[in-house]
Amino acid sequence: MEDRRIKNVVVLGGGTAGWMTASYLGKALGPAVKITVLEAPSVPRIGVGEATVPNLHKVFFDFLGLAEEDWMRECNASFKMGIKFTNWRTGGRGDANPRPYRDTTDHYYHLFGLLPNHENEPLSAYWSHKRLTGQTTEAFDYACYREPPILDAKLAPRFADGTKWTNYAWHFDAALVAEFLRKFATNKQGAIHIQDEFIDADVDTRGHVTALNTKGGRKIEGDFFVDCSGFRALLINGVMREPFLDMSDHLLNDRAVATQVPHDDEANGVEPFTGSIAMTNGWTWKIPMLGRFGTGHVYSSRFTTQDAATQEFCDMWGLDPSEQKLNHIKFRVGRNRRTWVRNVAAIGLSSCFLEPLESTGIYFITAALYQLAKHFPDKNFDPIFADRFNAEINTMFDDSRDFLQAHFSLAARNDTEFWRACKDLVLADDIKEKIRMYKAGLPINMPVTDESTYYGNFDAEFRNFWTNASYYCVFTGLGFDPQQTLTKLTHHPSMLDSAEHVFADIKRKQAELLKTLPTTYDYLKQLHAK
Ligand code: FDA
Repeated sequence: MEDRRIKNVVVLGGGTAGWMTASYLGKALGPAVKITVLEAPSVPRIGVGEATVPNLHKVFFDFLGLAEEDWMRECNASFKMGIKFTNWRTGGRGDANPRPYRDTTDHYYHLFGLLPNHENEPLSAYWSHKRLTGQTTEAFDYACYREPPILDAKLAPRFADGTKWTNYAWHFDAALVAEFLRKFATNKQGAIHIQDEFIDADVDTRGHVTALNTKGGRKIEGDFFVDCSGFRALLINGVMREPFLDMSDHLLNDRAVATQVPHDDEANGVEPFTGSIAMTNGWTWKIPMLGRFGTGHVYSSRFTTQDAATQEFCDMWGLDPSEQKLNHIKFRVGRNRRTWVRNVAAIGLSSCFLEPLESTGIYFITAALYQLAKHFPDKNFDPIFADRFNAEINTMFDDSRDFLQAHFSLAARNDTEFWRACKDLVLADDIKEKIRMYKAGLPINMPVTDESTYYGNFDAEFRNFWTNASYYCVFTGLGFDPQQTLTKLTHHPSMLDSAEHVFADIKRKQAELLKTLPTTYDYLKQLHAK
C-alpha cells in the first residue's frame, strides 16, 4: 500500500501558538514527521497571554509528558482558581477595590468546576428558589462553591503536602512559556527552528502551498502548513485569501494597553485568581505571579482615546504613564470564515480572537491542536477532515463569543456611553435562548457527567465548555437574577428542604479549608525554590 502519510509540516510563527503547535504535533504525529518552525526575530511576539483554563494541563502538558512542577518553575507560573470580577455593577472610574453594592461589595467570582447536584438538579436551582423567596441574601458563588472564602483569603489550591483539593488553572510568563516550549520542541522532539522572515509562498495548481520563501533566500518545502503568524495571518488571510469575519458588532473592545507591575508578595500575599476590573470604557485584567502582576486595560477606541484609557489605567495602579513601559495593542475580534483551507490551518491569533475576558486565547490553541490531530489528513486531503475541523472551531468560537458578549450586555452598570452601547448590540439567537432558560429557572448546558469525567475527557468538555455553573456564576454576579423557581421543584417541596444539607456541607468545607490550607504565596515560594 502506498504511504500517503504527511511527512513534512511547516509552522509559520514562533509565538505561544507556534511552539505549542510544534510540540503538540511532534508528539501526536510521531517521529516520522519532520516539523519546521519559521520565525522572524525581527517581528516581535504579542507578549501577552498569561492566564489559562484547567484543561491546559490534561490536554497539553500531560499529553507531552511534562510534569506540572517542572514547567511551572521554568515559566514563573502561579495558580488560578477562577476570575474575580470587580465593579461590573456599579459605575465609576477604574478602581481595583470593589465599591459598596447592596449589603456587600461589587465583586463576584467565576469559578471552575461543576456545581453539586441534589436529586438530579443543580444547586443553582435551589439557590435561585431561596433567593426568589427571600430565604437567602447570600451571593450565588459564596453559597454554592467551596472556593470563594479561600480565594478571599488568598489560600492555595493544594494542601502543604501537595494534595490537590480543587480544579485550577495557571498564570505564567508568556515569554518564558514560548521559550520553554521552543527548547522542548527543538531539543526533545527534533523540531527544526529557522530564524528568517517569510516573504511569500509557492502555490501549486490545486491552490495548495508547496513552500515558504524567506527574505534570507530560503525555500522551505512542506506538505502541510500551520499559520501561527499572529494577527498578521500571513498564510490564511494573505496567501489563501480566506476572509476574516469581523465580529465587532458583538464586542466593542479593540485595543489594550498592558504592563507589568512589581508586587510585594510577602506583605500582600499572592491572589490565586485573575482579576477583571470594570472601567469607564472597558475593563482591566490583573494576573498575579511571584514578584509582579501582569495587567492590561482592554478598551474600545470608539468610546475613548489611547491617552485617556492609559491615564485611567495608570491612575488605578498609581503609575506614571510617562515613566512606565507600556505595550499598546490593537486587536481584531472575530474568526476566519474557515480556519483550515486546503493544506493550510491557522492556529492562535491568526485563526480567531476574543478579548481575554475569559482567558480563551490559549484554550482556543489547545482545543484547535486537539481537533487538528484528531482530523489530521493524509496526502489525499479528503475535504471532510477540514470541514469537520472548521465546524468544531466555528462552534467553539461562536459559543464563547456569545458568552463574552453576555458579560457586557447583562452587566448592571450603565453609567457611560460605552456601557449603554453594550446593551444595544444584537445578541445571537443561541444566547438569547439561554437567557430565556435562565429567567425561567432552567439549568443551561447541564453536563451529563461528573467533574472527574468532565475534566478527564476533553471531548465531553469541548462539547460543553461553558456549563450551567459558568452561566449562573456570571449572570447572578452581574446583578441579573433568575425570575422563576424551576417548576419541578415547586411540585416537590421535600427536595427544597433536603437540599439544605448540601448548602450546610459547603459551609462546613469552607470552614475546614480556611483552617488547613497554606497561603498561595507560601506554597509558590516553596515550589519555585526547589
Ligand atoms: P504572536 O503574535 O505571539 O506570534 C506571532 C509569531 O509569528 C511571532 O513569532 C512572529 O515572529 C512570527 N511572524 C510574524 N510575521 C512573520 C514573518 N513575516 N516571518 C516569520 N515569522 C513571522 N490568551 C490567554 O489564553 N490568556 C490571556 O490572558 C490572554 N491575554 C491576551 C491579551 C491581549 C491584549 C491579547 C491581544 C491576547 C491575549 N491572549 C490571551 C491571547 C494570546 O496572547 C495568544 O493566543 C497567544 O499569545 C498566541 O499568540 P500567537 O502565537 O498566535 O501570536
